[in-house]
Amino acid sequence: MATPRTDTASFHAYLSSLQYPRIIALCGAGLSASSGLPTFRGPGGYWRTHEATSLATPGAFLCDAGLVWQFYSYRRHMALSVKPNPAHYALAELSRKLPGFQCFSQNVDGLHQRADHPREGLQLLHGTLFEVKCWSENCGYREENFTDPIVPALALPVDGKDPTATPDISDPKVPLSRIPIESLPQCPRCKRNALRPGVVWFGEQLPMQVLRNVENYLNDLAGVDLILVIGTSAKVYPAAGYVQEARQRGAKVAVINMDANDVPAGGWEDGDWMFKGDAAVIVPELLKPVIGEVVVPS
Ligand code: OAD
Repeated sequence: MATPRTDTASFHAYLSSLQYPRIIALCGAGLSASSGLPTFRGPGGYWRTHEATSLATPGAFLCDAGLVWQFYSYRRHMALSVKPNPAHYALAELSRKLPGFQCFSQNVDGLHQRADHPREGLQLLHGTLFEVKCWSENCGYREENFTDPIVPALALPVDGKDPTATPDISDPKVPLSRIPIESLPQCPRCKRNALRPGVVWFGEQLPMQVLRNVENYLNDLAGVDLILVIGTSAKVYPAAGYVQEARQRGAKVAVINMDANDVPAGGWEDGDWMFKGDAAVIVPELLKPVIGEVVVPS
């Protein structure tokens, strides 16, 4: 297997050599780690006693919709309590600067949107926590919703001793009441079903329009020059497959990850880069020749 390059100079030289750059960023939870959100497979990958991925299924919702909503309501609350980091702002600026740039993000945390990433340059592969939709696909109702908590029953419990403190319900030692389905958000259109989070669960299709946008971009005859693989273990398909698809269209691969062992599917190839460290630091540095210094609003 080839050994990836690690020097920023050769990356900058390549970036500067591109006349009409066609670049993809494939992003994962590591992008938001330095904002303070846990990743999926790291030590923060559990919620109470549940593996986070086991709560992200239609089966889990059918079995205990209240528990699944408590998990997502908690994630909405946490996502709203942190801020986009310089890497989110750098990618948003790159999108404004380069019409040939597309960000394919697996993150549902809303931080790209809050960093003002242009909507047409952002493909949310796994949906977003801040859209809710009817459980019934036949009904088809969906809405954007940033209300926290979305219904009173999902308000975080108050500490008995200190009413100003909110206990961390991700800790299994904190008691959690069972929420009946009638107390969950209800569909205002069909009035027959609960609403569910607008995220893609395991076993579900990616949003059709997003898939079409991704396919159209990949199938453009202009090819792809570069794919940045940022803070993702790139194990979940179809996202993981986009690295190989970009390669087949001519792209060089640059991985930005805390863990140097997170090798892209298919392994390293000649001309790849591996930048080990925090995406919030490395991404703005790598993109500097195109976007200059990143401005993070105070
Ligand atoms: P993972 O938790 O699988 O991987 C996070 C990656 O980020 C790991 O490779 C870490 O080494 C890396 N990382 C952690 N902190 C970092 C930092 N500060 N800077 C750079 N890298 C860092 O998360 P994802 O790859 O996003 O799917 O997971 C992909 C999908 O699997 C998720 O969207 C979710 C999950 O199950 C669904 O919910 C459908």
